[in-house]
Amino acid sequence: MKKIISFSGKGGVGKSTLLVLMLKYLLEKNKNLDILVIDADPDANIGDIIGKEINFKETVGGKMAEFKHKIQERKIPLDVSKDQIVESEVFDALIEMDSFDILEMGRGEGEGCYCSINNYLKRIIDILSKNYDFVLIDAPAGLEYFARKTGRNVTDLVIVTDPSKMGFHTMKRIIEITKEVNLLFENIWIVGNRFPQDVREILEKEVASITEQNVKLLGFVSNSDDISKMNLIGENLLLLPVDSKAYITAKDLFASII
Ligand SMILES: Nc1ncnc2c1ncn2[C@@H]1O[C@H](COP(=O)(O)OP(=O)(O)OP(=O)(O)O)[C@@H](O)[C@H]1O
Ligand SMILES: [Mg+2]
Repeated sequence: MKKIISFSGKGGVGKSTLLVLMLKYLLEKNKNLDILVIDADPDANIGDIIGKEINFKETVGGKMAEFKHKIQERKIPLDVSKDQIVESEVFDALIEMDSFDILEMGRGEGEGCYCSINNYLKRIIDILSKNYDFVLIDAPAGLEYFARKTGRNVTDLVIVTDPSKMGFHTMKRIIEITKEVNLLFENIWIVGNRFPQDVREILEKEVASITEQNVKLLGFVSNSDDISKMNLIGENLLLLPVDSKAYITAKDLFASII
């Protein structure tokens, strides 16, 4: 079944790390899957984690800026809408890796910042998701972008939290936002990342007190020396040893989503 899975949570809790571990798991599980990773977080770069340098020109923001320059130089008719620009540039911005594709949203140029780019996120997901079995999204902080048009498109939301009050607070706030803007996720999965054994119960209780039917505790990933090391030496996280404890745990969690 086709899945569109978005990762969110407080800054620095491990959203991008877990997304890449899920990607690793999917790639190992079935080499024939068509997978797209959308990096929609302007402050972080999936490319950095998987050892792929992506420059601004290759991002959706970069492509759109280039297109606008062409309009200004009158190489393209003036009456093209922003929607048309997005549609024509988004395929061009796809970065093909060996066994999956990446779409780096990037920032908008100048005024309006990345927000204006992410206004097109919903549309881009609609356009591109048809061609993929799995779409993994490293989401921007606010989820409002998904709510631009009615209807469901992102099937699963993974909210990552670390063992901190702010992490829990953001988790709950995200769940509130999904209600406020009427987002219909099939599942909202809570993952406790870098959780020592003895505080897991606190998150378990917290999630048990959430009344929304679609919110479930997926489980926990421990702090991992292997992940820290890969990060410090700038190694591609997709090359994390398959016998690494954190990866084995993460795989088990992801298997129950898919
Ligand atoms: N289970 C773990 N064990 C050890 N280190 C981890 C673990 N999970 C994440 N990290 C480390 O924590 C840091 C933050 O992780 P990551 O970049 O994935 O978080 P993020 O939520 O995507 O952050 P941002 O909000 O900045 O995008 C990184 O240095 C990463 O290597
Ligand atoms: Mg990140």
